[in-house]
Amino acid sequence: MRLRALHPVLVPVFCGILSVASPGISSNTAGPNMTPEAAVRTEDSWYNHSIAEHSIMIPGLSSTDNEKNVVINDTLRVKLECNLTVDAKDLQINVTWRHEKEQISSNLYTYDNTDNQWRTTYEFVITDMNMTGNYTCSFSSKTEVNGTFSLQAPPVHGGKKALVSYIGDFIVLKCDVSTNKPDKWLWYKVTENEQVLLNFSMDPKKYEELSDKSNETKLRITDLSESDNGSYVCKAFFKNVESKGLVYIRVLSYWVPLKVFLVIAGEVVVLVTVILVYEAISKKKQVQEDDKKDYEPMEQLKSEDGSTDEASTTRQRKV
Ligand SMILES: *[C@@H]1O[C@H](CO)[C@@H](O)[C@H](O)[C@H]1NC(C)=O
Ligand SMILES: *[C@@H]1O[C@H](CO)[C@@H](O)[C@H](O)[C@H]1NC(C)=O
Ligand SMILES: *[C@@H]1O[C@H](CO)[C@@H](O)[C@H](O)[C@H]1NC(C)=O
Ligand SMILES: *[C@@H]1O[C@H](CO)[C@@H](O)[C@H](O)[C@H]1NC(C)=O
Ligand SMILES: *[C@@H]1O[C@H](CO)[C@@H](O)[C@H](O)[C@H]1NC(C)=O
Ligand SMILES: *[C@@H]1O[C@H](CO)[C@@H](O)[C@H](O)[C@H]1NC(C)=O
Ligand SMILES: *[C@@H]1O[C@H](CO)[C@@H](O)[C@H](O)[C@H]1NC(C)=O
Ligand SMILES: *[C@@H]1O[C@H](CO)[C@@H](O)[C@H](O)[C@H]1NC(C)=O
Ligand SMILES: *[C@@H]1O[C@H](CO)[C@@H](O)[C@H](O)[C@H]1NC(C)=O
Ligand SMILES: *[C@@H]1O[C@H](CO)[C@@H](O)[C@H](O)[C@H]1NC(C)=O
Repeated sequence: MRLRALHPVLVPVFCGILSVASPGISSNTAGPNMTPEAAVRTEDSWYNHSIAEHSIMIPGLSSTDNEKNVVINDTLRVKLECNLTVDAKDLQINVTWRHEKEQISSNLYTYDNTDNQWRTTYEFVITDMNMTGNYTCSFSSKTEVNGTFSLQAPPVHGGKKALVSYIGDFIVLKCDVSTNKPDKWLWYKVTENEQVLLNFSMDPKKYEELSDKSNETKLRITDLSESDNGSYVCKAFFKNVESKGLVYIRVLSYWVPLKVFLVIAGEVVVLVTVILVYEAISKKKQVQEDDKKDYEPMEQLKSEDGSTDEASTTRQRKV
C-alpha cells in the first residue's frame, strides 16, 4: 500500500539518477551504457600510440562493393568508420558491426546521424593475428548495406618460381616486405608435416643470413644436398602481427645437365657420321665417274664442242 503511494515519487527520482549516471549521451548516440572507449582503455599503454583511421563512404542503401584493404603497420590502434548517405531523414536504420562471422557488442562502437548521413565508428587495438581479417559495418533498414575493411599484416614477398641449383653448390633465398620493416625474420624448412625452424647458430657452415636490411632477408645455404630440396618459409615478425612468404628450391644432381650434354653430344656424333658417310659415298661416285671419263675421252671432247648443257647437268649431279 505504502509502496504504491510512493510510486509516483520514486519513478522520477530513479530516472533522475539514471540521467545523472550517464551524462554526455546525446539522443543521437546510440544505445544504453555507451562507453565506446572502455574496451580500449583496459590496456592503458595503448593510449600512447597514435591511431590509424580508415573510412568507407557508402553512397546509399542499395550500393555494393564497399570494401577497403587495410595493411596494418606499426600503428596498432585502429579506428574504422563507415559513412552512409541517405535520402530520407526519418529513416529507421539499425547499425551493427561484425568481425569475420562474429557480432561485435554494441557497447564497443558508436553511431550517430544527421539529416542525410549515418556514421558509425569502431575503435580497437590489434593485439594479435586473430584481430586481422574482415570487419564489416552493416546499415539495415528495408534493405541492408555493408562496408568491409580487410585488415592484413604487411605482405611478405617470397619467390614465385623455384630456384635451381646443383648438389654441392650453394643457393641464396630471399624474402622482402615493402610497406614496413619487421622487428625480426625467421626461416623455416617445410617438411612433410611441420615447419622446422632453421637455427643458424647450430649449423653456421650450412646456413648464413646475408642481409643487413631489415626489410629483406637473405639466406645462403651451402653444400646443397638432395635433402635441401623443397619449400622454405620466411616469417616476418612485426609488433603484434606476423606474415610469411614461401620460397622453393630444386636441387638437381649434375646428372641432369650431363644428360642434356650427352643427348646433344650423341646427336652431334650421329650428324657427323651421316655427313662423313654421305661424303664418302659421293667421293666414291666421283671416282667412278672420273674413271668413266678416262675410258671415254673422245666422247667428252665431242660433247664439249657440241652442247654445254650436258656438262652442267653432270656437274649438278656431282654436288
Ligand atoms: C605514456 O608516455 C609517457 C611519456 O612518454 C610515459 O610517461 C607514460 O608512462 C606512458 N604511459 C603508459 C601507460 O605507457
Ligand atoms: C600507418 O598507417 C596510418 C594510416 O594509414 C598512417 O597514418 C601512418 O603514418 C602509418 N605509419 C607508419 C609508420 O607507416
Ligand atoms: C565521414 O564523416 C565524418 C564526419 O562527418 C568525416 O569526418 C569523414 O571525413 C567522413 N568520411 C568520408 C570517407 O567521407
Ligand atoms: C587465435 O584464436 C585461436 C582460436 O580461437 C587460438 O587457438 C589462438 O591461440 C589465438 N591466437 C592468439 C595469438 O591469440
Ligand atoms: C574478406 O572478404 C573478402 C570479400 O569481401 C573475401 O574475399 C576474403 O576472403 C575475406 N577475408 C577473410 C580473412 O575472411
Ligand atoms: C532494428 O532492430 C530491432 C531489434 O533487433 C528490430 O526489431 C527492428 O525491426 C530493426 N529495424 C530495422 C529497420 O531493421
Ligand atoms: C551484408 O553482410 C551480411 C552478413 O555477411 C550478408 O548476409 C548480407 O548479404 C550482406 N549484404 C549485402 C548487401 O551484401
Ligand atoms: C628496403 O629498404 C631500403 C632502404 O631502407 C629501400 O631502398 C628498399 O627499396 C626497401 N626494399 C623494399 C622491398 O621495399
Ligand atoms: C639456436 O641454438 C642455440 C644453441 O643451441 C640456442 O642458444 C638458440 O636459442 C637457438 N636459437 C633459436 C632461435 O632457437
Ligand atoms: C625436389 O622437389 C621437387 C618438387 O618440389 C620434386 O619434383 C623433385 O623431384 C625433387 N628433387 C629431388 C632431387 O628430390
